[in-house]
Amino acid sequence: MNLLIKNIKQLVTVSAAGKRFKAGPEMNDLGIVENATVLIENGRISWTGRTSDFEQTVPDSIDTLDAEGLVALPGFVDSHTHALFAGTRENEFALRSAGKSYAEIASAGGGILSTVAAVRAATKKELKKNARKHLDGMLRSGTTTVEIKSGYGLNEPDEIKMMDAINELADEQLIGIAATFLGAHAVPPEYTENTGEYVQLICSRILPYLARRKALQFCDVFCDNGFFSVDQARTILEAARTLGISIKMHADQLSQIGASVLAAELGAVSADHLEKIDDAGIAALQRAGTIATVLPGVSFFLNEEYSPARKIIGAGVPLAIASDFNPGSNMSFSMPLMMTIACTQMRLTPEEAITAATLNGAAALNMSGQTGSIDPGKQADIIFYDVPNYRSIVYHYGTNFAAHIVKHGTLLDY
Ligand code: NIG
Ligand code: FE
Repeated sequence: MNLLIKNIKQLVTVSAAGKRFKAGPEMNDLGIVENATVLIENGRISWTGRTSDFEQTVPDSIDTLDAEGLVALPGFVDSHTHALFAGTRENEFALRSAGKSYAEIASAGGGILSTVAAVRAATKKELKKNARKHLDGMLRSGTTTVEIKSGYGLNEPDEIKMMDAINELADEQLIGIAATFLGAHAVPPEYTENTGEYVQLICSRILPYLARRKALQFCDVFCDNGFFSVDQARTILEAARTLGISIKMHADQLSQIGASVLAAELGAVSADHLEKIDDAGIAALQRAGTIATVLPGVSFFLNEEYSPARKIIGAGVPLAIASDFNPGSNMSFSMPLMMTIACTQMRLTPEEAITAATLNGAAALNMSGQTGSIDPGKQADIIFYDVPNYRSIVYHYGTNFAAHIVKHGTLLDY
């Protein structure tokens, strides 16, 4: 796919100069080019710079886009979602408005387990049909790459059904999809008295089967009180690592039991949530080069505390923002909205929020060599916004101003 895009009012490249991610003050450096041109050849970016400096000859037949008046930036990389599910949980939303907490609802048998019942009852085809609708909405709102987790099956056939659905969607959909196995998302109702046996089922059967079929890029565990302990998480994640699978963790969300320290010790690519991270956890992530993925929409939706993002950035830990889109703790996949919440509630600068939602999100998926910035050689994943300047993307919130999306060189108009 070849495409020449001219007259871009403001091109936000988030140029990485070969770096995997940006940390500390670098997160404010967006590599902005005013009045810019981008040339795409075979789905990849081959040239970027000022329109006045573009001297290459291109065939008359090349498709062109006049981006006059538009702001362009890298497609968002949403590195943490549970976008494959069945059923919805408006009832829990109402219960929370009435004062119940997410943890109280979960321990009363609702929460994740209510979605597990719906997913077990759904066919793979139904799950895919539900997800396709969400994936279309994501692409329209500027997300060009998304991670999707299993974790609502919690037994061998239903976890495999979820992983198969995610992989089939990855083959069929234009949006880029990374598949994460989260068999240890909650303790299955059948194993409340013998959780160790479920951990063994994951390690000895499900993980090796999925790894043999190359059906997963990441293995994740929800490590928290009432879910999986640090020892159980270690057992599962070491088994994944032995199979050559990269690791992620749901860490320090509801309580502080040392989950982010474990993530760092095991060399996890990211530790996610971190509402309750402490100084030891922050220092461990910094030493390990593990990405801290914060999920501002969860704190907003559950009306609970926010992760200490300023402290994390201040310590030099690379920070990513993701939506955590799921029917329980955040029923929104809008990355611009997550970025606005990160700015107003976590005090990120708009520039940091953009870096966290693009390049650093890509790094959290081991994909920053391919996407996450507008640099020659990378996939052409670019959003064009009809806004006065790039700060408007987070400032003028609640409306989608995307005018065109380019995914791997394919132009979509909205
Ligand atoms: O990331 N923390 C655990 N899991 C999800 C919630 C999933 C759900 O409630 O269905 C999360 O917030
Ligand atoms: Fe999650």
